[in-house]
Amino acid sequence: MDKYVIKGGCRLTGEVNISGAKNAAVAILPAVILSDSPCRIENIPDISDVKTLTYILKEMGARVEYLDLHTVEIDPRPIMTDIVSAEIARRIRASYYFIGALLGRCRNAVVPLPGGCNFGVRPIDQHLKGFVALGCDYSLDNGMISVSAKNDLHGANIYLDVVTVGATMNIMLAAVKARGLTVIENAAREPHIVDLANFLNTMGADIRGAGTDTIKIHGVQRLRGVTYSIIPDQIEAGTYMVAAAATGGDVVVKNVTPKHLESISAKLVEMGVTIEEGDDTVRVLCERPLRKCNVKTMPHPGFPTDMQPQITTLLSVAKGTSMVNESVWENNRFKYVDELRRMGAQITVDGKVAIVEGADRLKGAPVRALDLRAGAAMVIAGLVAEGTTQVEDVQYIERGYENIVEKLVELGADIYRMEEPERTLDKIG
Ligand code: EPU
Repeated sequence: MDKYVIKGGCRLTGEVNISGAKNAAVAILPAVILSDSPCRIENIPDISDVKTLTYILKEMGARVEYLDLHTVEIDPRPIMTDIVSAEIARRIRASYYFIGALLGRCRNAVVPLPGGCNFGVRPIDQHLKGFVALGCDYSLDNGMISVSAKNDLHGANIYLDVVTVGATMNIMLAAVKARGLTVIENAAREPHIVDLANFLNTMGADIRGAGTDTIKIHGVQRLRGVTYSIIPDQIEAGTYMVAAAATGGDVVVKNVTPKHLESISAKLVEMGVTIEEGDDTVRVLCERPLRKCNVKTMPHPGFPTDMQPQITTLLSVAKGTSMVNESVWENNRFKYVDELRRMGAQITVDGKVAIVEGADRLKGAPVRALDLRAGAAMVIAGLVAEGTTQVEDVQYIERGYENIVEKLVELGADIYRMEEPERTLDKIG
């Protein structure tokens, strides 16, 4: 497995460009199959989850052509199947968006149960509840889920029992071409939900209220191909903001939507970091020591769970005792704390709460990236630690961070990637 080797202690300075949002891209790519002509998607991040999805699209029969590293043209017209084969799709969670998209396209979908980052039970009961309300039956067989609307899809009122990004987007995908009005109540409000709605509306859909907790979707008969540019990645931006703060740096994070970063900025300011917002930039300026603060993850506009490992790492080198409460995922999302402890962090976990005693310093050690964001946290820990840190299993990090090594080197970090001969994800094309 490939690793990152990081020599800690370098202060990050300069500018970093943020890529397109992973969690928008992974919904928008499957959504393209709802169109009856080609779409051009711009600002696509160059990450392995996107490569996996474009591979799946090709496997289904779509014509996929990269015009440059961040622009892809997809013609879904040649797709003749309603099946997503298991082998590749199982690797990523977002393959479940093909259920909603295939239902919208042809009223039938056979898709493997989702994989993705493993932090505890990740049910899809709310997705299924939505599909059933729209008129579908489903069954499970041999790890594949079959969902079908025998008597067509019809609009429905759907109240989500938990605020879920995945179910909100999946139901939107299925409802966009259903007959009549669908109302999703207690919908998630993340920026990528608004981005998916904007993409679909540009194609001719009629979706209102995305970004609020009530989304109304009037079904339309057809959607046409468009050119669309994906929003900047909130979590990639937040990760570089935390990395800058952790190293006492001065970094301008570029190509961002500052509004999407407010919950992250607010916590950094509480810790003593200076944040200067521009139109599409945030400058992060920090002189250590940092102050403690308490963080609770919540659905948007709360503090994002996908920033929890990174902020916990930052708090592990702040002065005082902080509390981090994970309220979106179960406490499995604290598994990485064991790795941080190997570097000298003083953190105890009690259920959904981590108590972080700020330490004077972390010490380099061999650690593992247990999932995408936990991996990013290990990189941040390596940047502040004394000595050398080796982060193993970096394939998790590369699922969602474009060129992380190059971007950090550009900011002055001492980090390189140690290649092992056998790599699998790159072969996906
Ligand atoms: N949940 C249910 N039933 C469902 C769906 C979700 O109980 O049918 C629960 C989950 O168990 C969890 C909560 O609802 O406790 C939120 O889950 P959500 O559906 O919002 O998560 P997701 O759609 O599976 C997306 C992102 C995650 C991110 C979460 C929360 C993608 C592909 N993944 O997952 O991103 O943590 O939303 O914001 O969009 C990441 O990027 O590192 C990542 C894991």
